[in-house]
Amino acid sequence: MSTLFSPLQIKNIQFKNRIVVSPMCEYSSVDGFANDWHLVHLGSFATGGAGLIITEATAVSPEGRITFADLGLYKDEHIEKLKQITDFIKAQGAVPGTQLAHAGRKASHEQPWVGGKQIPSTGPNGWKSVSSSDIPFIDTEEAPLALDKAGIEKVKADFKAAAVRAIAAGFQVIELHGAHGYLINQFLSPFSNKRTDEYGGSFENRIRLLLEIIDEVKQVWPAENLLFVRISATEWVDGGWTTDDSVALANILKEQGVDLIDCSTGGNIPNVKIPLTPGYQVEFAAKIKKESSILTGAVGLITKAQQANDIIKNEQADLVFFAREMLRDPHFALRAAHELGDDVKWPVQYERAKWS
Ligand SMILES: Cc1cc2nc3c(=O)[nH]c(=O)nc-3n(C[C@H](O)[C@H](O)[C@H](O)COP(=O)(O)O)c2cc1C
Repeated sequence: MSTLFSPLQIKNIQFKNRIVVSPMCEYSSVDGFANDWHLVHLGSFATGGAGLIITEATAVSPEGRITFADLGLYKDEHIEKLKQITDFIKAQGAVPGTQLAHAGRKASHEQPWVGGKQIPSTGPNGWKSVSSSDIPFIDTEEAPLALDKAGIEKVKADFKAAAVRAIAAGFQVIELHGAHGYLINQFLSPFSNKRTDEYGGSFENRIRLLLEIIDEVKQVWPAENLLFVRISATEWVDGGWTTDDSVALANILKEQGVDLIDCSTGGNIPNVKIPLTPGYQVEFAAKIKKESSILTGAVGLITKAQQANDIIKNEQADLVFFAREMLRDPHFALRAAHELGDDVKWPVQYERAKWS
């Protein structure tokens, strides 16, 4: 068996292989509800053999949505359809996860295919966004409201309530979205966080919101389930959040009981030059794993079975996250097993198509 298809056991949960479907926004919900699009989209990765399937950024509150069409877990009524989806994923031998998210100042936008621009707070389908400070992502955008103490408490309570719903919906992994310039990342970065209270200034203060959200979630999230955090391991800009900050954070999160750090980069500052070469973010997963000994996930321009296998074999990461390659081929995992010479279980309905 190749290392990519070796199982990984974390606590009571076993992943049948190291292949993860990375969160991918579909912007296809009405008032946060999942629908048949999500069932087919996520379900096809389950028939396709992935070990862990994580939903798109799933908003913990209506104002935490990037667009009015984001998926949500901010109402009890959201649970039913998501439960159908997690049941299907489990029936295929995969583990269902959800990425809980708050977009902060990146909220109230159009869907990308209609331009992706900010919708003014007074516009149709728009609302006032919130952030760590009243600094917009792009100078020409409407500034967000800096969260006051009550606002911060609401964000924490929203994450906790969404985690309770995630249990009822059958998810076994929560990934907190602390990357890509969304709310948690807006607190982490000294570029977007100019607060003078205990949530701003020093590294200890800027990570406070994330640590408090984790505390809230852990109060309700069953100990046998898993908690991942996605971070932007670097901002790629001098003076911003650094890889050393990420290592320091990882050490703290490990102590706090976080199971894995999913290592992405960037997204909090516009127009940053990022060296987009194959596997360009793997080095961050490797460094964080080595220097904090927390489990890590590698993501970003990983498209080949052998490439992914080498990442696991060389102990650069414990899981490999795939996004766009999964959209090109939802059955990527079955093909990867064939390419690596592994005989994995196919859905019986598909067995006649197995490469011999
Ligand atoms: C359509 C699409 C939607 C995405 N939505 C999310 C998201 O909801 N949350 C997130 O953390 N990353 C999101 N991403 C980023 C991916 O999870 C991944 O980190 C990135 O695409 C790099 O991996 P890749 O080279 O395998 O595509 C999205 C990417 C794509 C292509």
